[in-house]
Amino acid sequence: MILEETAILKISEDLSDKDDLEKLSFAADIIKRGGTVCFPTETVYGLGANALNESAVSSIFEAKGRPQDNPLIIHLDSIDKADSFCFAKENPHLSQVKKFMPGPITVVLKKRDIVPNVVTAGLDTVGVRVPENKVANKFIELCGVPVAAPSANISGKPSPTCPEHVIEDLSGRVDVILCAGCARVGLESTIIKLVGEERPTLLRPGAVTLENLTECLGDIELSPAILSEMKPGDVASAPGMKYRHYAPNAPVFLVMGDEEDVRNFISHRQKTENCAVLVFSEDKDYVDDTNLFDIGSKHDTAMQAHMIFAALRATDAIPSLSAVYVHITGDKSGLNLALFNRLLKASAYNIISLKEELK
Ligand code: TXA
Ligand code: MG
Repeated sequence: MILEETAILKISEDLSDKDDLEKLSFAADIIKRGGTVCFPTETVYGLGANALNESAVSSIFEAKGRPQDNPLIIHLDSIDKADSFCFAKENPHLSQVKKFMPGPITVVLKKRDIVPNVVTAGLDTVGVRVPENKVANKFIELCGVPVAAPSANISGKPSPTCPEHVIEDLSGRVDVILCAGCARVGLESTIIKLVGEERPTLLRPGAVTLENLTECLGDIELSPAILSEMKPGDVASAPGMKYRHYAPNAPVFLVMGDEEDVRNFISHRQKTENCAVLVFSEDKDYVDDTNLFDIGSKHDTAMQAHMIFAALRATDAIPSLSAVYVHITGDKSGLNLALFNRLLKASAYNIISLKEELK
């Protein structure tokens, strides 16, 4: 840290308060001086530092307790600036994907030497993202340098979607926390690798969906790490995918099956153990409301995505929980793929499929 204590600054989401710009300039100045700033984006909050300053980047890893072999993505205020840091101009796929930018997507491209190895964990590629969130975009513009930023959580914890989550995890470990409401999407960006002529590979699903990308890029490869567990010795295409992620303290179980069976199963667990349950709004009348978290209608995946990390994180406040049960549909289309991927990681692939158990 370069400040003695963390400055927590509230900014209005549409930058309409008169001192918003002053606060953002203060935070940008901290970045220029080699400090760390947490900032909102439409996906999750980020923990930023000047990507071109190696010691500033190292302090990100330190603040999060993040393994050094897990690369960071860099944030720019416009994709037109990407070519200074990676081979963007001549990339045959990027022009198709640009239409989703600014937005909840990260492109992995061949990096230029100017990007230090500490950012990319020694890889010859770098992830680039241009957030659409107004506060993020203005902040990055004022920094005038690429901002390296992972999610602003302690490594392994659910990603932070609201300012309280960032304060809880990182107050006292970073210089500035910019607070501007809860993230619209609630899941981290889609990551697509677009290197040279190679077939584009989806490394992490997000709000820019596989269907959206297939429509403009044609056939896309899916990283196996999205839906299946890595075995010892497997090489992760997105190194972050190999760690247990997004997980609260209690073990998480995903429960799927006929609606009635899931409700009965959950009610039964509630009678026999001190568990938390994450259910759809439609389930609420059928299960006990002790330690219950409503993650939205089963038909509203956007709401579920928006709520899921906050709900997982909230279970940590309940003492001596034995388990967290999450009702899932098993749907993998559209945004469901991203939600399912995060829940698979949070549960370490523990799925209770009631249909199969009854067979
Ligand atoms: O929405 C987001 O992407 C948020 C906000 C703050 O922008 N950031 C974020 O960063 O989620 P992080 O570090 O929590 O996740 C980035 C993921 C990690 O799994 C990392 O391994 C992977 O991206 N990654 C970064 N650079 C990569 C590269 N060059 N090749 C492959 N994977 C990469
Ligand atoms: Mg993260």
